[in-house]
Parts: sequence; structure tokens; C-alpha cells
Amino acid sequence: MVKIHSASVLFTSAIAALASASPVADVKRDVAAPTNKVVMDNDYAARAWNSFLLALNAGWDVLGLTASTGDTWMPQGVEHALANLELGGLSCIPVYAGSVYPLLNTPELFQTWQKIHGAVVWQGSFAPENATLEAEGMDPTSGDPFRINTKALVMQPTTMVQNRTGAVNFMIEQVYKYPGQVSIYAAGALTNVALAVRSDPKFASLAKELVIMGGYIDVNMLAATGSPYVTDLNTDINTMYDPEASKIALTADFPNITIAGNVANSIIPTDEWFDELVKVESPYTKYIKENGPGMIFPFWDDIAGAILVEPAIVTNSTKVYIDVDTAWSSPSYGTVRAYAKDLAPMGTREVNYVNKINETRFYEILTHSLQYPKTCADLS
Ligand SMILES: *[C@@H]1O[C@H](CO)[C@@H](O)[C@H](O)[C@H]1NC(C)=O
Ligand SMILES: *[C@@H]1O[C@H](CO)[C@@H](O)[C@H](O)[C@H]1NC(C)=O
Ligand SMILES: *[C@@H]1O[C@H](CO)[C@@H](O)[C@H](O)[C@H]1NC(C)=O
Ligand SMILES: *[C@@H]1O[C@H](CO)[C@@H](O)[C@H](O)[C@H]1NC(C)=O
Ligand SMILES: *[C@@H]1O[C@H](CO)[C@@H](O)[C@H](O)[C@H]1NC(C)=O
Repeated sequence: MVKIHSASVLFTSAIAALASASPVADVKRDVAAPTNKVVMDNDYAARAWNSFLLALNAGWDVLGLTASTGDTWMPQGVEHALANLELGGLSCIPVYAGSVYPLLNTPELFQTWQKIHGAVVWQGSFAPENATLEAEGMDPTSGDPFRINTKALVMQPTTMVQNRTGAVNFMIEQVYKYPGQVSIYAAGALTNVALAVRSDPKFASLAKELVIMGGYIDVNMLAATGSPYVTDLNTDINTMYDPEASKIALTADFPNITIAGNVANSIIPTDEWFDELVKVESPYTKYIKENGPGMIFPFWDDIAGAILVEPAIVTNSTKVYIDVDTAWSSPSYGTVRAYAKDLAPMGTREVNYVNKINETRFYEILTHSLQYPKTCADLS
């Protein structure tokens, strides 16, 4: 998820309890080889550039960005992806349109579910339509998913979405082209990944791995007793946008699945970091300097991106079986549950569940990626 700054969500000291992260010993440096390839799927919003910048700076081949519906409607996400790339001279990276709707979920179903099971603080594109907020520059919510709010973009893109094929076919095509070499990174809803899994029985096994942001475990008490901000942080909206797709993707036979769940809440940017960051000018740091940090949330997608490009940044992880609750009548609809191997439900599989990363190293690579971003001129 790549939420944008919302005035109604306030930073509170309660979050400090979540922010503890002291690195554990025994990290091995292993900078990614230049042949690594990735398709980056996301519910793109303004400034959702950290993950592709991290991948490019680690020498990865970013084959394309694919847009999903989640925090933003897919068509708006496409515009964000194009704008985020163009700002830094990266329009040589193609953008593909994904599914507009989740497999079953709709804003109406999501609102009805909340009436039965309790409200969700951040509802992304499924929030009720609000013309006032849109006029203020927020991304469109509910209503017609094809309407675009250009005010929400970091710039007006002059480039266009690829029209040769869509996100799902693009992902499938790439794993056939480079068998065993393509990582699928998904930091929004898993609709496109699930559609690729169901469209082609070999898709998952031909990919190298799936790395996702989302999949929180044991955070109910934090969600129940925190401020709206803390509750939001502990709501698994990425998996909840499309519960059925989450289940399909997280039980598919990818050679490897890595989940940046709770760990994605472990680092929250500070004003000091932003101050240091903008001392070196790049198109991205310049934008941040001129428009303010605009960020009060943890480095969600960015931590998942760092884990993707530098697995050695992980200092503690657990192998566990994972399932997703797909009962609409359940208060846990769309959220994950972990199991011991011997007790796991049928059809589930083992995943790497990341518990901790090296925070110092994370800041190091993120800062460098933003201060010295690659451009198309650097890419062959
Ligand atoms: C964490 O990363 C920093 C910066 O690269 C490094 O100096 C340190 O040794 C790492 N810590 C561990 C525990 O690996
Ligand atoms: C739109 O959002 C604003 C700001 O959160 C809120 O005050 C207003 O009540 C909302 N309008 C509707 C129609 O929901
Ligand atoms: C598809 O994209 C190409 C290249 O940007 C463009 O020339 C062409 O007009 C587009 N076709 C349609 C049907 O939009
Ligand atoms: C799966 O991914 C994890 C995390 O990146 C890594 O530690 C592990 O070696 C990988 N396993 C395989 C079989 O590739
Ligand atoms: C790794 O993380 C798990 C879950 O937070 C924790 O129980 C365990 O003690 C940690 N292991 C080490 C070596 O820190």
C-alpha cells in the first residue's frame, strides 16, 4: 500500500512502541547481481517511487510497473506510475494496466462488510465518494473507477500506458521469457498476481519468487487500543482489498514467497532523515524539498522493496505456513493466519515471514537510491 498523507490521520506517540528495531548480528552482504529482474505491481499513488528506485540502484532490471486497484483505482494508479517515472527521466520503464476490480470485492460489498464487522480507518479507493476531497487533490474513491484526478499526480505525464497487452499477460509473458529469473513484487492488492496464477498454470512456478507487502500477524490488540493512526497501521488493507486474490497468490507454487508484514511497520521516517535526504539534489529529493515530506506512515512498500533487492538485509525471519480467510461472514475476512506445517490447512504452503531488518542498512540504500537515482540514460 502506498497511502498518501491524509490530514485526518495524526501522528501520536503511541506509535513509538511499534518503532523499536535494533539490528541483530550476522548480516551477510549480498548485493544483487545485475541480471535480477522484477515486475513491480502496486496500487501506485503520488511519490510511490522508492521501490523502483531501490531496485534500479541495486542494478536490477525493472521490466515494468503494473497497476492494481487498492489505495487508488487502477486507472489513477497508472497515471501515478507514469508521473512518478517521468519525474526522474525513467519513462523507458513501461507501465501496464491491471484489473480494475478485485475478483469479488467492490466498494459496496466492502462498505456493507464494515457495517457488520466494524469500520476500517483507511479504505483506499473503496472509501465513499467525496467530491470535496477530490477537489483538494485526493485520489478518486468509489464511483466511476475510470475518472482521473490529475491534481493528485506529482506531474502531468506525457507518456502513456502500454496498449499492446495488460498487466496480467505482461507478467505471464515475462516469466516465460526469463524462466526462473523474474521476481514478482506486489505491494498492493494481489488481484493481478492471482489472475496471472489462474490464467496460466505454470506462471507461479516459472517466476523466481513473490515478495509482498502486507500480511500482518497478531496485531489485533494494537489495532483495538491504538489511535486511528495505529489502528490503520495494524489493518491489513492490502490483503483485505481482494481476499480471494490474496489466497490464490499466497498459496500458489512460486519457488519462494516472502512476506513483509509486521516488519513493514518497523521504520517510520523522521524529519531529520528528510532534512538529510534533501541535501543532495535529484529530481526526487527536489520534489520532496519543494513539497515537504508528505509522509507520516512507515516505509511499507519500501521495506518490502529493500528485502527484494537485498535479502541479506533481513536479520530475522520465520518459515511458516500461511492461509488467508476468505469467508465474507468472518471478521477476519481478507487477513492472513499462520500455521505450523503439521497443522496447516490443505493447499497452503511455506513462506518466509520477515520479522526484522537491518534499519541502518535500509536507510543507507534508500537514501542513496533517492539522492542518486538511475535514469534511462544509465539503463541499457
Ligand atoms: C547493518 O548495516 C550497517 C550499515 O551497512 C552495517 O554497518 C552493520 O554491520 C549492519 N548490522 C548488522 C547487524 O549486520
Ligand atoms: C468528505 O471528506 C471531508 C473531510 O474528511 C468530510 O468532512 C466530509 O464530511 C466528507 N463528505 C462526504 C460527503 O462524505
Ligand atoms: C498504442 O500505443 C502506441 C505507442 O505509444 C501508439 O502509437 C498507438 O496509437 C496506440 N494505439 C492505440 C489504439 O491507442
Ligand atoms: C527465498 O527467499 C529468502 C528471502 O529472500 C531467501 O533467504 C531464501 O534463500 C530463498 N530461498 C530459495 C529456495 O530461493
Ligand atoms: C526472531 O523474531 C521472532 C519473532 O519476533 C522472535 O520470537 C525471536 O526471538 C527472534 N530471534 C532472534 C534471534 O532475535
